[in-house]
Amino acid sequence: MKLGLTVSRKQREFIEADADEVFYGGAAGGGKSFAQVIDALLYALQYPGSRQLILRRSFPELSRSIILVSQANYPRRLAKYNSTGRVWKFQSGSMIEFGYCDSEADVTQYQSAEYDVIRFDELTHFTEFQYVYMLSRIRGVNDFPKSIRSTGNPGGVGHAWVKARFIDPRPEGVKGTLPSGRSVLYIPAKVTDNPFLMKSDPGYIKRLEELPEAQRRALLDGDWNIFEGQYFTGWDPEIHVVKPFPIPDYWRRYLSIDYGRDMLAALWTAFDPQGRGVVYREFCSGLDGAFFNKGGKTCGALPLLARDAAREILRENAGEKLSGAFAPPDLWNKHADTGQSTAEVMAGEGLSLVRADNRRDQGWMAVADALRMETDEQGCPVPGLRVFENCRVLITSLPQLQYDLKNPDDCAAEPHEITHAPDALRYLLAGRPARARIPEPENPFEPERSGDEALAMFGI
Ligand SMILES: Nc1ncnc2c1ncn2[C@@H]1O[C@H](COP(=O)(O)OP(=O)(O)O)[C@@H](O)[C@H]1O
Ligand SMILES: [Mg+2]
Repeated sequence: MKLGLTVSRKQREFIEADADEVFYGGAAGGGKSFAQVIDALLYALQYPGSRQLILRRSFPELSRSIILVSQANYPRRLAKYNSTGRVWKFQSGSMIEFGYCDSEADVTQYQSAEYDVIRFDELTHFTEFQYVYMLSRIRGVNDFPKSIRSTGNPGGVGHAWVKARFIDPRPEGVKGTLPSGRSVLYIPAKVTDNPFLMKSDPGYIKRLEELPEAQRRALLDGDWNIFEGQYFTGWDPEIHVVKPFPIPDYWRRYLSIDYGRDMLAALWTAFDPQGRGVVYREFCSGLDGAFFNKGGKTCGALPLLARDAAREILRENAGEKLSGAFAPPDLWNKHADTGQSTAEVMAGEGLSLVRADNRRDQGWMAVADALRMETDEQGCPVPGLRVFENCRVLITSLPQLQYDLKNPDDCAAEPHEITHAPDALRYLLAGRPARARIPEPENPFEPERSGDEALAMFGI
């Protein structure tokens, strides 16, 4: 059958790739989305009765890009497009459906669906949670080859996890195996791979060359080693992460928490007399088990009721004297069923919380300020905040926070599981915790002592 389509060498590589998870990623304009649409068509024709899903993060993106490409290239004599259902139905019984997942929870609309192939376009716009959830939707009783095939550019909320899953672990173009046993392949895309674009728009490369450096490296070179989108560019593990050291008793200790139905993040931070802080303990737990750290233990996930969370926190606190315990204001909302707020329940267990300032940009600014280098009393550069290496969740979350594309002063609220520990840190620093007071040296000449007693203390 003649479809009248030509593909580039790289696009062919993507179409022929047979790994369970394929990621065709890199420069913008490389022809990735086009390849995705054509690959779906070829699969639908090769496996009559197959079901595929093509996903974009939002509906407008879907309708102005990939759906248009399918409409321009799919042969009407073989398939009809139904715009209400956003689905191509082939005479052979195959289906290609388009969908989007705006919020993290949107994936649940696919809860009872089954597909042979799921395709993410612009994978870096999705969270790892969404991707992993959708993996479970690939199943079916037929013996069509099952896979998840994605395309995307560097940058975006998913930059870090996509890089860690597909790019970093193995050389380009080499098939690997994920811990789950599934095979995985990354196909790098360069803009120069796309002869069609080079011909139709020769000025395209010139325009990319004029972009600011990070964006140019991402979009023109398809370079993954950029910090594009990273919110805390001041974070440097070489500087901010330190081996635990004994914290003097007189430093002021604070607790700060983020708590919700599905997660708890609790941080303990101590401040020295100069107002420099060190986060020395964390207790983080999420329902999905994606992030958990309590005294270095990695196992399991802990659904915690407010009462149990308070008890666990106090147990971790082990009687340490706290100068304050900050928590987000929504913990003071009354629950309709009990008439009590989470903060009240926790107070009932002996954990009294202070309502934190929840203005996001100011809070994030305070975190960025704390990460900045200053000069200590000896003239050496030191950061305003350090983190003990045992606080793994905070250490891995902070550098993954991405700019919010809609509000560059803010950081993206997703992926959900990486925001809790940084949020807890934000609540603490927005509350302007006080520095420690250097204790007065014990004065042997206290008024209530007689001169003779005082002299006796020196053995005189
Ligand atoms: N095989 C092809 N045949 C014709 N045009 C193509 C082909 N591959 C890509 N193009 C065109 O090149 C341009 C960029 O391709 P696209 O798939 O959008 O790139 P990417 O998704 O990598 O940014 C689009 O206009 C697309 O239609
Ligand atoms: Mg594209």
